[in-house]
Amino acid sequence: MKQVYGVIGHPIGHSLSPIMHNVAFKEREIDATYLAFEVKENQLKQAIDGVRGLGVSGLNVTIPHKVNVMQYLDEIDPLAERIGAVNTIVHKENKLIGYNTDGEGYLQALLPILPKSLDNMRVLVLGAGGAAKGVAMAMTVHGVKEMCITNRTMEKADTLAHECSAITKVSTLPIALAQARLTEFDLIVNTTSIGMTPNVDQMPLSLEMIARGVVVSDLIYTPAKTRWLQDAEARGAIIQNGLGMFINQGALAFEKWTNQEAPRDIMRKKVVEKLGGLT
Ligand code: ATR
Repeated sequence: MKQVYGVIGHPIGHSLSPIMHNVAFKEREIDATYLAFEVKENQLKQAIDGVRGLGVSGLNVTIPHKVNVMQYLDEIDPLAERIGAVNTIVHKENKLIGYNTDGEGYLQALLPILPKSLDNMRVLVLGAGGAAKGVAMAMTVHGVKEMCITNRTMEKADTLAHECSAITKVSTLPIALAQARLTEFDLIVNTTSIGMTPNVDQMPLSLEMIARGVVVSDLIYTPAKTRWLQDAEARGAIIQNGLGMFINQGALAFEKWTNQEAPRDIMRKKVVEKLGGLT
C-alpha cells in the first residue's frame, strides 16, 4: 500500500518540501507520496491524532508547531529534547518519535566551507527563535569554541544561552553591542527572517567592520543571496545561504523514515529548479 508522508505548518502553501521529497521517493522507487497539510495552531492535536488514525508514516513539522507538537508524541530523541523542538516525526510500530534534523542539517552544510575547525571559532548568532535553537545547540554539541547570541528580545537570547551553556561557554549581547564588537567573531549567523522575500532591503546588522575571510551565514534562501550576504561577499567574507541546511534537514528526515540514503543531488536539483535556478 502507498505510504503517506507530509509536512504540517501554517502557512504551508509555499513549502518546497513536497517536491523535494516526492522526487526522492521516485528516485529510490519507494511507493510513497508527500503532501503539505495546512494545520493551524488550534488544530495540532487533531492533526496528530489523524497521523495515528490514518497511519501516516512520517511528518515534517514547521512553523508554528515545532515546540508544541512535542507534547503529543510518544518519544523524543535526546538531541530534539535538548534543542526543545521537533521538525521530524517517525511513525513506527504504533509510536510517534520526534527528532530534530535542522541543527545537524545546518552543520553538514557549514562544516565543509569553514576555513578552520569549529573548535577554533568564535560565533555570533543573530536571533533566538526556533531556528536559532537548532543551530546554536548543534554548534555547541559539536564543540564550538565560543558563542554569543544577540536578539531584539534579550530575554529570549538569555534563555537560549542558558540552555546551551551546559555544554560550552555562551554569552549574550544587545544588538548595538554585538554590532560594536563584530570584529571579535569568525562566524556570524543570521537565523532571523530579516531580509527574506518580500522584505529584501532589510539587513540584520551592518557588516562594515568585518575582516576578509570571516564566514557570514544566513539561514534564508529566498532570495538566494540576501542583501546582507551580498554585502558580506563584497567585503571579502565567505558566504553561505540556507539552501544547504534545507536540503540536508530534509535528507536526514528521509533517511530516518526509509533507512535508505537520500538522493541529495537530485533533491537539491529539484529545489533549485523550483527556485528559478539560483543557488
Ligand atoms: P524561527 O522558527 O524561524 O526562528 P521565530 O521562532 O518566530 O521563527 O523567531 C524569529 C527570530 O527572528 C527571533 O529571534 C525574532 O526576534 P524576537 O525574538 O525579538 O521576536 C527575530 N526577528 C524577526 N523579525 C525581526 C525584526 N523585524 N527585527 C528583529 N528581529 C526579528
